[in-house]
Amino acid sequence: MADAIAAGFNMPTADVDLTKECSEIGLGEADILMSVLPIYAGRIPKVALERLSALKGEGQKAVAVVVYGNREFDDGLLETKNTLEGNGFQVVAAAAFIAEHSIVRSIAAGRPDAEDVRIAHKFAQKILENLSETEGVQVPGNEPYVEPKPTPFHPSADENCVNCVLCAENCPVGAIPVDNCSSCNSELCINCLRCVQLCPLHCRSMPAPFMAFITQMLNEKVCGYKNPPVFLSEAPKT
Ligand SMILES: Cc1cc2nc3c(=O)[nH]c(=O)nc-3n(C[C@H](O)[C@H](O)[C@H](O)COP(=O)(O)O)c2cc1C
Repeated sequence: MADAIAAGFNMPTADVDLTKECSEIGLGEADILMSVLPIYAGRIPKVALERLSALKGEGQKAVAVVVYGNREFDDGLLETKNTLEGNGFQVVAAAAFIAEHSIVRSIAAGRPDAEDVRIAHKFAQKILENLSETEGVQVPGNEPYVEPKPTPFHPSADENCVNCVLCAENCPVGAIPVDNCSSCNSELCINCLRCVQLCPLHCRSMPAPFMAFITQMLNEKVCGYKNPPVFLSEAPKT
């Protein structure tokens, strides 16, 4: 989604990958920061917001985007906007795009699709059109934010794990020890399931009872095709 929106801006871009540790980048006065973050349990993973906070603004315009798996984005967009504003940015637009649910991959399978990409391009164009006359943007969400319930389950590997370390090298929070890839540090793990998706032997998974529970829960809650909501700032009232 980040690439699709950036393509709509049709201007040079520089990427900062928040799945890795990131440091302050030099932003010019006219640069626009776009943050694209995933929704986990209706919120943004804490570590992602901490890494985003390394990017400090001095009044530059920012676009807050979240990506969610067709259930709900709850308070995640609002906390992204608040974090960006707390870091010195002026949030002029926001959106919540939909992607395949990374726990139950049959949910929102095929998203983002061509229509999402079309909306993403149009979103970027509208932002550019409104840029000179923008105030702030309003987004939905609760304050205080609703606290998600922590899950005691985390991915682990079965006996087929050959300790290839691909999962350990790509874990965004360093939760998988390189010398024992079949395990997982539950204090650090954020359940992003990148390790499950990357494992070439398909030997990492969440515990089966958790998958059965979450699949049923999501299939009950998530229904139908949703269009991604976009939020653009209004011209100041005179
Ligand atoms: C731990 C976890 C919690 C999630 N919680 C939600 C949620 O509350 N609402 C939702 O619609 N999707 C939820 N999703 C789906 C993700 O928001 C979606 O798959 C998103 O594309 C993940 O991006 P990523 O693959 O970059 O992590 C969750 C996914 C994970 C892994």
